[in-house]
Amino acid sequence: MGEQNPPVFGVVGLGEVGLPLALRVAESGYDVVGVDIDEERIRSLKSGESYIIDIPSSDVQATVDDGVTVTTEYERLSDATHIALCVPTPLQKSGQPDISYIVAAVDELVEVISPETTVIIESTVYPGATENLIREIVTDAGFTVGEDIYLASSPERIDPGNEQYDLEDIPKVVGGVTASCQAQTERLYEDIFQTVVSVNSATEAEMTKILENTFRNVNIALVNELVKVADNFGIDFWNVIEAAKTKPYGFMPFYPGPGLGGHCIPVDPIYLSWRARQNGIDTPLVDLADRTNREMPEYIVRRLTEVLNERGIALSESRILILGVAYKSGVPDTRKSPAIDIIDGLEKSQASITYHDPYVPRLNVNDVGPYTSVELTDDLLASVDCTLIVTNHPEIEIETIVDRSSLIFDTRNATANYDADNIYRL
Ligand SMILES: NC(=O)c1ccc[n+]([C@@H]2O[C@H](COP(=O)([O-])OP(=O)(O)OC[C@H]3O[C@@H](n4cnc5c(N)ncnc54)[C@H](O)[C@@H]3O)[C@@H](O)[C@H]2O)c1
Repeated sequence: MGEQNPPVFGVVGLGEVGLPLALRVAESGYDVVGVDIDEERIRSLKSGESYIIDIPSSDVQATVDDGVTVTTEYERLSDATHIALCVPTPLQKSGQPDISYIVAAVDELVEVISPETTVIIESTVYPGATENLIREIVTDAGFTVGEDIYLASSPERIDPGNEQYDLEDIPKVVGGVTASCQAQTERLYEDIFQTVVSVNSATEAEMTKILENTFRNVNIALVNELVKVADNFGIDFWNVIEAAKTKPYGFMPFYPGPGLGGHCIPVDPIYLSWRARQNGIDTPLVDLADRTNREMPEYIVRRLTEVLNERGIALSESRILILGVAYKSGVPDTRKSPAIDIIDGLEKSQASITYHDPYVPRLNVNDVGPYTSVELTDDLLASVDCTLIVTNHPEIEIETIVDRSSLIFDTRNATANYDADNIYRL
Protein backbone atom coordinates (compact mmCIF):
# COMPACT_ATOMS: atom_id res chain seq x y z
CA MET A 1 0.00 0.00 0.00
CA GLY A 2 1.62 3.25 -1.06
CA GLU A 3 1.82 6.28 1.20
CA GLN A 4 -0.17 8.20 -1.43
CA ASN A 5 -3.28 6.12 -0.76
CA PRO A 6 -4.92 7.39 2.45
CA PRO A 7 -6.59 4.52 4.30
CA VAL A 8 -10.29 3.97 3.77
CA PHE A 9 -11.71 1.92 6.61
CA GLY A 10 -14.59 -0.44 5.91
CA VAL A 11 -16.70 -1.90 8.72
CA VAL A 12 -18.91 -4.90 8.02
CA GLY A 13 -21.70 -5.33 10.57
CA LEU A 14 -22.78 -2.13 12.32
CA GLY A 15 -23.97 -3.53 15.65
CA GLU A 16 -22.74 -3.28 19.25
CA VAL A 17 -19.17 -3.73 18.05
CA GLY A 18 -19.11 -2.36 14.50
CA LEU A 19 -20.92 0.93 15.03
CA PRO A 20 -18.71 2.20 17.89
CA LEU A 21 -15.65 1.10 15.91
CA ALA A 22 -16.82 2.93 12.77
CA LEU A 23 -17.39 6.11 14.79
CA ARG A 24 -14.01 5.83 16.52
CA VAL A 25 -12.14 5.39 13.24
CA ALA A 26 -14.03 8.30 11.66
CA GLU A 27 -13.11 10.40 14.70
CA SER A 28 -9.46 9.60 14.00
CA GLY A 29 -9.87 11.31 10.64
CA TYR A 30 -10.21 8.32 8.31
CA ASP A 31 -12.76 7.85 5.58
CA VAL A 32 -15.18 5.16 6.74
CA VAL A 33 -17.61 2.95 4.83
CA GLY A 34 -19.98 0.95 7.02
CA VAL A 35 -21.94 -1.97 5.56
CA ASP A 36 -24.82 -3.82 7.19
CA ILE A 37 -27.37 -6.15 5.62
CA ASP A 38 -30.10 -4.81 7.92
CA GLU A 39 -31.87 -2.15 5.85
CA GLU A 40 -33.71 -0.84 8.89
CA ARG A 41 -30.42 -0.14 10.68
CA ILE A 42 -28.96 1.62 7.65
CA ARG A 43 -32.10 3.77 7.37
CA SER A 44 -31.77 4.69 11.07
CA LEU A 45 -28.14 5.65 10.69
CA LYS A 46 -28.80 7.72 7.59
CA SER A 47 -31.43 9.67 9.49
CA GLY A 48 -29.02 10.17 12.39
CA GLU A 49 -30.66 7.75 14.80
CA SER A 50 -28.66 5.42 16.99
CA TYR A 51 -29.91 1.97 17.98
CA ILE A 52 -26.96 1.28 20.29
CA ILE A 53 -27.43 2.33 23.91
CA ASP A 54 -23.89 3.69 24.41
CA ILE A 55 -23.98 5.82 21.28
CA PRO A 56 -26.05 9.00 21.31
CA SER A 57 -27.94 9.81 18.11
CA SER A 58 -26.11 13.15 18.01
CA ASP A 59 -22.82 11.24 17.47
CA VAL A 60 -24.35 9.26 14.62
CA GLN A 61 -25.75 12.41 13.05
CA ALA A 62 -22.40 14.22 13.34
CA THR A 63 -20.54 11.28 11.81
CA VAL A 64 -22.98 10.90 8.92
CA ASP A 65 -22.85 14.68 8.35
CA ASP A 66 -19.08 14.36 8.30
CA GLY A 67 -19.27 12.10 5.25
CA VAL A 68 -19.20 8.56 6.66
CA THR A 69 -20.93 6.21 4.23
CA VAL A 70 -23.45 3.71 5.61
CA THR A 71 -24.91 1.28 3.16
CA THR A 72 -26.23 -2.22 2.52
CA GLU A 73 -24.07 -2.48 -0.61
CA TYR A 74 -20.84 -4.42 -0.32
CA GLU A 75 -19.65 -2.87 -3.62
CA ARG A 76 -19.01 0.35 -1.71
CA LEU A 77 -16.08 -1.42 -0.04
CA SER A 78 -14.15 -1.67 -3.29
CA ASP A 79 -11.91 1.30 -2.34
CA ALA A 80 -11.40 0.20 1.25
CA THR A 81 -7.79 -0.35 2.29
CA HIS A 82 -8.78 -1.93 5.63
CA ILE A 83 -11.95 -3.80 6.49
CA ALA A 84 -13.04 -4.82 9.98
CA LEU A 85 -15.44 -7.72 10.22
CA CYS A 86 -17.92 -7.27 13.08
CA VAL A 87 -20.71 -9.71 12.26
CA PRO A 88 -22.41 -11.93 14.87
CA THR A 89 -20.99 -15.26 16.01
CA PRO A 90 -23.86 -16.80 17.98
CA LEU A 91 -24.72 -20.41 18.70
CA GLN A 92 -27.06 -22.55 16.64
CA LYS A 93 -30.19 -24.00 18.25
CA SER A 94 -28.20 -27.23 18.62
CA GLY A 95 -25.72 -25.33 20.85
CA GLN A 96 -22.89 -25.44 18.32
CA PRO A 97 -21.09 -22.33 17.02
CA ASP A 98 -22.85 -20.60 14.15
CA ILE A 99 -20.15 -19.23 11.87
CA SER A 100 -22.51 -18.74 8.94
CA TYR A 101 -22.45 -14.93 9.35
CA ILE A 102 -18.65 -14.91 9.07
CA VAL A 103 -18.68 -17.15 6.02
CA ALA A 104 -21.45 -15.13 4.33
CA ALA A 105 -19.62 -11.84 4.97
CA VAL A 106 -16.23 -13.11 3.74
CA ASP A 107 -17.90 -14.65 0.67
CA GLU A 108 -19.33 -11.21 -0.13
CA LEU A 109 -16.07 -9.42 0.64
CA VAL A 110 -13.86 -11.42 -1.69
CA GLU A 111 -16.15 -10.45 -4.56
CA VAL A 112 -15.59 -6.72 -4.07
CA ILE A 113 -12.28 -5.99 -2.36
CA SER A 114 -9.20 -4.74 -4.16
CA PRO A 115 -5.77 -6.34 -3.88
CA GLU A 116 -3.68 -5.04 -0.96
CA THR A 117 -6.68 -4.80 1.37
CA THR A 118 -6.22 -5.70 5.03
CA VAL A 119 -9.13 -7.68 6.50
CA ILE A 120 -9.31 -7.62 10.30
CA ILE A 121 -11.57 -10.07 12.12
CA GLU A 122 -13.09 -8.23 15.11
CA SER A 123 -15.80 -10.84 15.71
CA THR A 124 -15.13 -13.46 18.36
CA VAL A 125 -14.36 -16.73 16.60
CA TYR A 126 -12.83 -20.04 17.62
CA PRO A 127 -9.02 -20.18 17.73
CA GLY A 128 -7.79 -20.95 14.23
CA ALA A 129 -10.81 -19.60 12.33
CA THR A 130 -8.86 -16.77 10.67
CA GLU A 131 -5.82 -18.87 9.76
CA ASN A 132 -7.90 -21.73 8.41
CA LEU A 133 -11.55 -21.09 7.55
CA ILE A 134 -11.23 -17.44 6.47
CA ARG A 135 -7.85 -17.86 4.83
CA GLU A 136 -9.27 -20.73 2.78
CA ILE A 137 -12.14 -18.60 1.46
CA VAL A 138 -9.84 -15.76 0.39
CA THR A 139 -7.34 -18.20 -1.11
CA ASP A 140 -10.10 -19.94 -3.08
CA ALA A 141 -11.05 -16.50 -4.41
CA GLY A 142 -7.56 -16.16 -5.88
CA PHE A 143 -5.78 -14.04 -3.25
CA THR A 144 -2.48 -14.92 -1.57
CA VAL A 145 -2.52 -14.05 2.12
CA GLY A 146 0.48 -11.94 3.11
CA GLU A 147 1.14 -10.96 -0.50
CA ASP A 148 -1.90 -9.37 -2.10
CA ILE A 149 -4.27 -9.53 0.86
CA TYR A 150 -3.60 -9.17 4.56
CA LEU A 151 -5.52 -11.05 7.20
CA ALA A 152 -5.45 -10.44 10.94
CA SER A 153 -7.44 -11.04 14.08
CA SER A 154 -8.11 -8.24 16.56
CA PRO A 155 -11.04 -9.37 18.69
CA GLU A 156 -13.16 -6.53 20.06
CA ARG A 157 -13.24 -6.24 23.87
CA ILE A 158 -15.93 -3.58 24.30
CA ASP A 159 -18.16 -3.82 27.39
CA PRO A 160 -21.60 -2.35 26.57
CA GLY A 161 -22.92 -0.08 29.30
CA ASN A 162 -19.46 0.44 30.81
CA GLU A 163 -18.83 4.17 30.87
CA GLN A 164 -15.40 3.89 32.46
CA TYR A 165 -13.49 3.04 29.28
CA ASP A 166 -13.64 4.75 25.91
CA LEU A 167 -13.08 2.44 22.98
CA GLU A 168 -9.68 3.94 22.17
CA ASP A 169 -8.48 3.27 25.73
CA ILE A 170 -9.10 -0.47 25.60
CA PRO A 171 -5.81 -2.13 24.51
CA LYS A 172 -6.18 -3.76 21.10
CA VAL A 173 -4.75 -7.25 20.71
CA VAL A 174 -3.52 -7.85 17.16
CA GLY A 175 -2.35 -11.09 15.56
CA GLY A 176 -1.65 -11.39 11.85
CA VAL A 177 -1.70 -14.52 9.71
CA THR A 178 1.75 -13.48 8.41
CA ALA A 179 4.28 -10.86 9.50
CA SER A 180 3.11 -8.50 6.76
CA CYS A 181 -0.53 -8.97 7.86
CA GLN A 182 0.56 -8.09 11.39
CA ALA A 183 2.46 -5.00 10.27
CA GLN A 184 -0.41 -3.65 8.14
CA THR A 185 -2.90 -4.00 10.98
CA GLU A 186 -0.60 -2.62 13.68
CA ARG A 187 0.27 0.43 11.59
CA LEU A 188 -3.38 1.46 11.35
CA TYR A 189 -4.47 0.51 14.85
CA GLU A 190 -1.55 2.31 16.50
CA ASP A 191 -3.01 5.45 14.99
CA ILE A 192 -6.53 4.76 16.24
CA PHE A 193 -6.08 3.13 19.67
CA GLN A 194 -3.92 4.10 22.64
CA THR A 195 -2.31 0.68 22.99
CA VAL A 196 -1.75 -2.14 20.54
CA VAL A 197 -0.77 -5.50 22.01
CA SER A 198 0.98 -7.66 19.43
CA VAL A 199 0.78 -11.43 19.64
CA ASN A 200 2.45 -14.03 17.44
CA SER A 201 -0.47 -15.09 15.30
CA ALA A 202 -4.15 -14.60 14.54
CA THR A 203 -4.87 -17.78 16.50
CA GLU A 204 -3.14 -16.37 19.59
CA ALA A 205 -5.28 -13.23 19.30
CA GLU A 206 -8.45 -15.35 19.00
CA MET A 207 -7.42 -17.49 21.95
CA THR A 208 -6.72 -14.36 24.03
CA LYS A 209 -10.32 -13.22 23.62
CA ILE A 210 -11.69 -16.68 24.38
CA LEU A 211 -9.46 -16.93 27.47
CA GLU A 212 -10.80 -13.63 28.80
CA ASN A 213 -14.43 -14.62 28.46
CA THR A 214 -13.94 -18.23 29.54
CA PHE A 215 -12.16 -16.88 32.63
CA ARG A 216 -15.28 -14.87 33.49
CA ASN A 217 -17.61 -17.76 32.71
CA VAL A 218 -15.69 -20.25 34.88
CA ASN A 219 -15.30 -17.86 37.81
CA ILE A 220 -18.96 -16.91 37.73
CA ALA A 221 -19.81 -20.62 37.71
CA LEU A 222 -17.64 -21.06 40.80
CA VAL A 223 -19.51 -18.42 42.79
CA ASN A 224 -22.84 -19.69 41.44
CA GLU A 225 -21.96 -23.10 42.82
CA LEU A 226 -20.73 -21.72 46.15
CA VAL A 227 -23.73 -19.43 46.69
CA LYS A 228 -25.92 -22.55 46.87
CA VAL A 229 -23.59 -24.09 49.44
CA ALA A 230 -23.55 -20.88 51.50
CA ASP A 231 -27.35 -20.76 51.36
CA ASN A 232 -27.45 -24.28 52.79
CA PHE A 233 -24.99 -23.21 55.52
CA GLY A 234 -27.27 -20.27 56.33
CA ILE A 235 -24.63 -17.62 55.62
CA ASP A 236 -24.62 -14.53 53.41
CA PHE A 237 -22.31 -15.34 50.51
CA TRP A 238 -22.22 -11.73 49.30
CA ASN A 239 -20.72 -10.85 52.64
CA VAL A 240 -18.16 -13.62 52.21
CA ILE A 241 -17.09 -12.13 48.87
CA GLU A 242 -16.75 -8.68 50.41
CA ALA A 243 -14.51 -10.16 53.10
CA ALA A 244 -12.43 -12.14 50.56
CA LYS A 245 -11.99 -8.96 48.53
CA THR A 246 -9.98 -7.42 51.33
CA LYS A 247 -7.11 -9.79 50.54
CA PRO A 248 -4.63 -7.54 48.75
CA TYR A 249 -3.42 -10.20 46.29
CA GLY A 250 -4.49 -13.47 44.71
CA PHE A 251 -8.24 -12.89 44.78
CA MET A 252 -10.54 -11.22 42.28
CA PRO A 253 -14.24 -10.89 43.10
CA PHE A 254 -16.92 -12.43 40.92
CA TYR A 255 -20.56 -12.35 41.84
CA PRO A 256 -23.31 -14.95 41.67
CA GLY A 257 -26.49 -14.17 39.80
CA PRO A 258 -29.53 -15.56 38.04
CA GLY A 259 -27.48 -16.91 35.12
CA LEU A 260 -25.43 -15.58 32.22
CA GLY A 261 -26.68 -13.66 29.23
CA GLY A 262 -25.60 -11.56 26.29
CA HIS A 263 -23.70 -12.32 23.16
CA CYS A 264 -20.31 -13.14 24.69
CA ILE A 265 -19.77 -14.78 28.09
CA PRO A 266 -22.23 -17.70 27.67
CA VAL A 267 -21.27 -18.16 24.01
CA ASP A 268 -17.50 -17.76 23.58
CA PRO A 269 -16.41 -20.71 25.77
CA ILE A 270 -18.56 -22.96 23.58
CA TYR A 271 -16.52 -21.87 20.55
CA LEU A 272 -13.42 -23.05 22.41
CA SER A 273 -14.76 -26.38 23.66
CA TRP A 274 -16.30 -27.18 20.27
CA ARG A 275 -13.00 -26.54 18.48
CA ALA A 276 -10.98 -28.43 21.11
CA ARG A 277 -13.31 -31.43 20.79
CA GLN A 278 -12.73 -31.47 17.04
CA ASN A 279 -9.03 -31.98 17.86
CA GLY A 280 -9.85 -34.72 20.35
CA ILE A 281 -9.33 -32.58 23.47
CA ASP A 282 -11.90 -32.45 26.25
CA THR A 283 -12.53 -29.28 28.27
CA PRO A 284 -14.44 -30.62 31.29
CA LEU A 285 -14.00 -27.52 33.43
CA VAL A 286 -15.34 -25.24 30.69
CA ASP A 287 -18.25 -27.59 30.03
CA LEU A 288 -19.15 -27.84 33.71
CA ALA A 289 -19.01 -24.06 34.12
CA ASP A 290 -21.35 -23.67 31.17
CA ARG A 291 -23.79 -26.18 32.67
CA THR A 292 -23.57 -24.65 36.16
CA ASN A 293 -24.40 -21.20 34.81
CA ARG A 294 -27.17 -22.47 32.54
CA GLU A 295 -28.82 -24.19 35.52
CA MET A 296 -29.08 -20.97 37.54
CA PRO A 297 -32.50 -19.85 36.22
CA GLU A 298 -33.92 -23.24 37.23
CA TYR A 299 -32.32 -22.88 40.67
CA ILE A 300 -33.86 -19.42 41.06
CA VAL A 301 -37.32 -20.80 40.25
CA ARG A 302 -36.79 -23.65 42.73
CA ARG A 303 -35.62 -21.35 45.53
CA LEU A 304 -38.40 -18.87 44.81
CA THR A 305 -40.91 -21.71 45.12
CA GLU A 306 -39.42 -22.68 48.50
CA VAL A 307 -39.34 -19.12 49.77
CA LEU A 308 -43.01 -18.65 48.80
CA ASN A 309 -43.96 -21.99 50.34
CA GLU A 310 -42.34 -20.95 53.63
CA ARG A 311 -44.88 -18.13 53.61
CA GLY A 312 -47.77 -20.44 52.78
CA ILE A 313 -47.99 -19.38 49.12
CA ALA A 314 -48.08 -21.84 46.23
CA LEU A 315 -46.09 -20.76 43.17
CA SER A 316 -48.99 -21.80 40.91
CA GLU A 317 -51.27 -19.29 42.65
CA SER A 318 -48.73 -16.53 43.05
CA ARG A 319 -48.30 -13.19 41.32
CA ILE A 320 -44.66 -12.43 40.61
CA LEU A 321 -43.24 -9.09 39.47
CA ILE A 322 -39.89 -9.38 37.73
CA LEU A 323 -37.63 -6.36 37.90
CA GLY A 324 -35.20 -6.15 34.98
CA VAL A 325 -35.22 -8.58 32.08
CA ALA A 326 -32.13 -7.36 30.18
CA TYR A 327 -29.13 -9.62 30.66
CA LYS A 328 -27.26 -6.98 32.63
CA SER A 329 -27.69 -3.63 34.28
CA GLY A 330 -27.96 -0.50 32.16
CA VAL A 331 -28.46 -2.13 28.75
CA PRO A 332 -31.56 -3.11 26.71
CA ASP A 333 -30.02 -6.35 25.42
CA THR A 334 -32.11 -9.45 26.22
CA ARG A 335 -30.10 -11.95 24.16
CA LYS A 336 -29.79 -15.12 26.24
CA SER A 337 -31.01 -13.17 29.28
CA PRO A 338 -31.64 -15.49 32.24
CA ALA A 339 -34.93 -13.61 32.75
CA ILE A 340 -36.27 -15.48 29.72
CA ASP A 341 -35.65 -18.92 31.23
CA ILE A 342 -36.89 -17.74 34.63
CA ILE A 343 -40.16 -16.45 33.14
CA ASP A 344 -40.47 -19.64 31.12
CA GLY A 345 -40.01 -21.76 34.28
CA LEU A 346 -42.49 -19.66 36.25
CA GLU A 347 -45.03 -19.81 33.41
CA LYS A 348 -44.77 -23.60 33.36
CA SER A 349 -45.60 -23.56 37.08
CA GLN A 350 -48.63 -21.38 36.26
CA ALA A 351 -47.48 -18.40 38.26
CA SER A 352 -48.85 -15.08 37.08
CA ILE A 353 -46.00 -12.96 35.71
CA THR A 354 -45.54 -9.26 35.06
CA TYR A 355 -42.29 -7.43 34.51
CA HIS A 356 -40.84 -3.97 34.68
CA ASP A 357 -37.74 -2.94 32.73
CA PRO A 358 -37.12 0.68 31.77
CA TYR A 359 -34.92 -0.49 28.88
CA VAL A 360 -37.08 -3.29 27.48
CA PRO A 361 -40.65 -2.31 26.55
CA ARG A 362 -41.54 -5.75 25.15
CA LEU A 363 -40.19 -9.24 25.63
CA ASN A 364 -40.84 -12.51 23.84
CA VAL A 365 -40.32 -15.60 25.95
CA ASN A 366 -39.90 -18.60 23.71
CA ASP A 367 -43.44 -19.26 22.46
CA VAL A 368 -45.15 -16.96 24.96
CA GLY A 369 -45.59 -13.24 24.65
CA PRO A 370 -44.88 -10.61 23.89
CA TYR A 371 -44.91 -9.48 27.48
CA THR A 372 -45.09 -5.74 27.96
CA SER A 373 -43.18 -3.86 30.64
CA VAL A 374 -45.62 -2.50 33.23
CA GLU A 375 -45.33 0.77 35.08
CA LEU A 376 -43.68 0.41 38.47
CA THR A 377 -46.25 1.79 40.93
CA ASP A 378 -46.70 1.45 44.69
CA ASP A 379 -50.02 -0.34 44.04
CA LEU A 380 -48.34 -2.88 41.79
CA LEU A 381 -45.59 -3.58 44.32
CA ALA A 382 -48.18 -4.02 47.07
CA SER A 383 -50.35 -6.32 44.95
CA VAL A 384 -47.79 -8.98 44.01
CA ASP A 385 -46.72 -11.91 46.19
CA CYS A 386 -43.05 -11.43 45.35
CA THR A 387 -40.82 -8.92 43.60
CA LEU A 388 -38.05 -10.85 41.91
CA ILE A 389 -34.98 -8.72 41.11
CA VAL A 390 -33.31 -10.27 38.07
CA THR A 391 -31.45 -7.20 36.77
CA ASN A 392 -30.79 -4.15 38.90
CA HIS A 393 -30.92 -1.26 36.46
CA PRO A 394 -29.71 2.01 37.99
CA GLU A 395 -33.14 3.61 37.37
CA ILE A 396 -34.92 1.17 39.70
CA GLU A 397 -35.22 2.72 43.16
CA ILE A 398 -34.43 -0.04 45.60
CA GLU A 399 -35.68 1.87 48.64
CA THR A 400 -39.20 2.04 47.16
CA ILE A 401 -39.05 -1.66 46.29
CA VAL A 402 -38.03 -2.56 49.84
CA ASP A 403 -40.69 -0.29 51.37
CA ARG A 404 -43.61 -1.43 49.21
CA SER A 405 -43.02 -5.13 48.49
CA SER A 406 -44.38 -7.81 50.78
CA LEU A 407 -41.55 -10.13 49.69
CA ILE A 408 -38.38 -9.57 47.64
CA PHE A 409 -36.21 -12.24 46.06
CA ASP A 410 -33.00 -10.47 45.14
CA THR A 411 -30.67 -12.32 42.76
CA ARG A 412 -28.19 -9.39 42.42
CA ASN A 413 -27.57 -8.18 45.96
CA ALA A 414 -29.30 -4.94 44.94
CA THR A 415 -30.74 -4.72 48.47
CA ALA A 416 -27.32 -4.96 50.14
CA ASN A 417 -27.90 -1.79 52.15
CA TYR A 418 -31.19 -2.98 53.59
CA ASP A 419 -31.82 -5.38 56.38
CA ALA A 420 -35.49 -6.35 56.41
CA ASP A 421 -37.51 -9.51 56.97
CA ASN A 422 -39.16 -9.25 53.57
CA ILE A 423 -35.85 -9.66 51.69
CA TYR A 424 -34.47 -13.00 50.53
CA ARG A 425 -31.08 -12.75 48.80
CA LEU A 426 -29.60 -15.36 46.47
N1 LIG B 1 -21.73 -7.10 21.99
C1 LIG B 1 -20.63 -7.19 22.70
O1 LIG B 1 -20.58 -6.80 23.85
C2 LIG B 1 -19.38 -7.77 22.09
C3 LIG B 1 -18.15 -7.48 22.72
C4 LIG B 1 -17.00 -8.00 22.16
C5 LIG B 1 -17.08 -8.82 21.04
N2 LIG B 1 -18.28 -9.09 20.47
C6 LIG B 1 -18.29 -9.94 19.28
O2 LIG B 1 -18.41 -9.08 18.15
C7 LIG B 1 -19.20 -9.69 17.13
C8 LIG B 1 -20.38 -8.84 16.78
O3 LIG B 1 -21.23 -8.76 17.89
P1 LIG B 1 -22.30 -7.60 18.07
O4 LIG B 1 -22.71 -7.63 19.49
O5 LIG B 1 -21.80 -6.32 17.48
O6 LIG B 1 -23.49 -8.16 17.17
P2 LIG B 1 -24.78 -7.33 16.74
O7 LIG B 1 -25.83 -8.34 16.50
O8 LIG B 1 -25.03 -6.20 17.69
O9 LIG B 1 -24.35 -6.69 15.34
C9 LIG B 1 -24.00 -7.42 14.23
C10 LIG B 1 -24.42 -6.68 12.98
O10 LIG B 1 -23.97 -7.42 11.85
C11 LIG B 1 -24.98 -7.34 10.85
N3 LIG B 1 -24.77 -8.44 9.90
C12 LIG B 1 -25.09 -9.75 10.03
N4 LIG B 1 -24.68 -10.44 8.95
C13 LIG B 1 -24.07 -9.55 8.12
C14 LIG B 1 -23.44 -9.65 6.86
N5 LIG B 1 -23.32 -10.82 6.24
N6 LIG B 1 -22.96 -8.53 6.31
C15 LIG B 1 -23.06 -7.33 6.92
N7 LIG B 1 -23.65 -7.17 8.12
C16 LIG B 1 -24.14 -8.27 8.72
C17 LIG B 1 -26.26 -7.41 11.63
O11 LIG B 1 -27.34 -6.89 10.86
C18 LIG B 1 -25.93 -6.54 12.84
O12 LIG B 1 -26.26 -5.18 12.65
C19 LIG B 1 -19.55 -11.08 17.68
O13 LIG B 1 -18.58 -12.00 17.28
C20 LIG B 1 -19.46 -10.88 19.18
O14 LIG B 1 -19.20 -12.08 19.87
C21 LIG B 1 -19.43 -8.57 20.96
